[in-house]
Amino acid sequence: MEPSVTKPHALCIPLPAQGHINPMLKLAKLLHHKGFHITFVHTEFNHQRLEESLGEGALRGLDDFRFEVISDGLPPSNPRGILDLPSLCLTLPVDGLRSFRELVMKLMNSDAPPLTCIVSDGVMSFTLKVARELGVPEVMFFTPSGCGMLGYLHFEELVDRGLFPLKDESCLSNGFLDTAVDWIPAMQGIRLRDLPTFIRTANPDDIMFKYNSESVNNAFKADGVILNTFDDLEGEVVLAIKAKYPQLYTLGPLPMLHQQLLPSPNSLESIQSSLWREDGGCLGWLDGREPESVLYVNFGSLITVTREELREFAWGLANSKCPFLWVIRPNVVDGGEDVISEEFREEIRDRGLIVGWCAQERVLAHSSVGGFVTHCGWNSTLESLCAGVPLVCWPFFAEQHMNCLYACARWGIGLEMIDGGSDGLKRGRVEGVVRELMEGEKGREAREKAVEWKERGVAATRPGGSSHTNLEMLVNKLRGL
Ligand code: UDX
Repeated sequence: MEPSVTKPHALCIPLPAQGHINPMLKLAKLLHHKGFHITFVHTEFNHQRLEESLGEGALRGLDDFRFEVISDGLPPSNPRGILDLPSLCLTLPVDGLRSFRELVMKLMNSDAPPLTCIVSDGVMSFTLKVARELGVPEVMFFTPSGCGMLGYLHFEELVDRGLFPLKDESCLSNGFLDTAVDWIPAMQGIRLRDLPTFIRTANPDDIMFKYNSESVNNAFKADGVILNTFDDLEGEVVLAIKAKYPQLYTLGPLPMLHQQLLPSPNSLESIQSSLWREDGGCLGWLDGREPESVLYVNFGSLITVTREELREFAWGLANSKCPFLWVIRPNVVDGGEDVISEEFREEIRDRGLIVGWCAQERVLAHSSVGGFVTHCGWNSTLESLCAGVPLVCWPFFAEQHMNCLYACARWGIGLEMIDGGSDGLKRGRVEGVVRELMEGEKGREAREKAVEWKERGVAATRPGGSSHTNLEMLVNKLRGL
């Protein structure tokens, strides 16, 4: 009798945030395609949300692609309307860890194939404890950009150089953040303000600073590190990170690698991860617009804007007269939602559509979309690059300022929304930059660059390309662990 062949089994666990779940799910699907049995872990809270947004049974999975849950440790009293990252950074390493340990032990005694490896989000690095205790290898997937990651890798050095914590809050506005940072390899011409925003505090015990710093340090103990970028895009930066983590696998852009290996239709298409219900009508609305005429606006899943910012942005957009599709996430505005006045709706009625959430990758791929106003979340930045769509960059937090700098000054695919000055967003600026992107010379150049980078992304993900080859190497490594 033939010996039965057991599949290798990868347990994939993202941080419970949309910008982390999406790329982890793509990676999980790629590993499944390469013959892995997959266990994908959500938090109980998100599991429930996903069933609401996608429909009951959406997480039923397949025999060899299963879903499990752990607790996020947040008390029921936590409203979780906006993802409470600082609280999660406190509860996940304690309650999440306990729950994760129980899950792994349950899996080890189940009918599932023996665990080959844990593929953990880099910022869920408490999982490494369980991996070590139970003798399971672990690789870590950091979902931000390489340039952002290189910033996090130098958090400790900021402390050594006396640049963190800030002396006091006045450093946020007195020009201190413009201090040149010329000591990070592969990063010329950056300033403190370009580094991940968790350094902008006078509190030496800031939880976000500590959590991110510990995460990149924990990764030194992992069996490998994965990034959603490609060597051609972030070459020098990738080399600098590789000098720290020799077992580095750049697999990006994951949307393209996914498209290359799992073109639609495929058996995993029913497995989705949108935490909000997608508006189905906006794609039909786009069908009726001229090619490359529509500006798409979306600020991702985490950031919030003030009422004042939203108002200025809205009127700048309206005054530009550009057709637009604007996603206003239900909880995106600080202190209430009713900022979009009837007067505004009347003004934009024939050229603007506002929805609550959309299938972003499909929107960006639509031929009517000609530009994207983004907060520079890494997934949004890469998804736009995959579609060859240029950006207006309006970064808010985490490594988004670094992504903005690279998108505008290095890759040439974006224009900055805030132009140096710190007097906040003004409608005149919004109008000007939107017009420049959609009709001006700089916009034309950015569009050409975006198309060029799209082609370079395709080259990285097709057979023989760096990301395609790295996936093969990762799979071989995981199988051999
Ligand atoms: C961010 C970024 O991941 C990261 O760079 C930063 O460190 C902090 O968090 P997020 O704000 O969610 O996360 O942005 P982004 O990385 O762009 O991810 C959002 C994801 O949700 C994308 O995959 C996007 O396609 C998807 N999305 C967003 C939708 O499908 N529909 C929407 O309407 C909006």
